[in-house]
Amino acid sequence: MKKVIAFAGSNSKSSINKQLAVYAGSLLEGVEVNILDLNDFELPLFGVDLEAEKGIPEKAHEFLDLIKNSDGIILSLAEHNGAYSTAFKNLFDWMSRIESKTFFGKPMLLMATSPGGRGGKSVLEIARGRFPFHNAQIVEVFSLPFFGDHFSDNKISEAGFNSDLIKKIETFKNVL
Ligand SMILES: Cc1cc2nc3c(=O)[nH]c(=O)nc-3n(C[C@H](O)[C@H](O)[C@H](O)COP(=O)(O)O)c2cc1C
Repeated sequence: MKKVIAFAGSNSKSSINKQLAVYAGSLLEGVEVNILDLNDFELPLFGVDLEAEKGIPEKAHEFLDLIKNSDGIILSLAEHNGAYSTAFKNLFDWMSRIESKTFFGKPMLLMATSPGGRGGKSVLEIARGRFPFHNAQIVEVFSLPFFGDHFSDNKISEAGFNSDLIKKIETFKNVL
């Protein structure tokens, strides 16, 4: 059985992006989905001096190994001030010091959601532009605006966005 990791680019305990990633994962039938949480991979703030003094933390190696050993990635990015959350950027920076091709060519469903009307489009643009340099194979991109209006009972409640995600999940599954 194919194995996919699903996680949010957020360390919020009530992350709306984690809720979306979990839902997207639940749509993948016949695939083993491992839900990850950045809170289980707490890392010190990246700095070149800390790296030189203490090396790269084990948790960064662990997360990178989970990517390496997966067949695909579902990632939903939180948007903070138009960019990655600090927690995600920190993990990304640490992992990139181990392996610059951080995503190992794995198929990726890249998503974002936010309470507002842009649905994390700014962070999605940053990730779309950058991740390919780290060997991400972005298969589909999905944005859910107005999370509070469009998501309830652990699923997307708005039919148009829901069918769009279902189509994108199908495309993603076909390349795993
Ligand atoms: C520091 C900070 C900056 C934010 N900046 C943005 C932003 O630029 N665009 C946006 O749509 N939402 C922004 N938000 C709102 C987040 O989208 C919202 O907190 C969302 O729940 C974050 O996703 P998460 O729940 O998965 O962590 C910001 C929130 C915080 C705490």
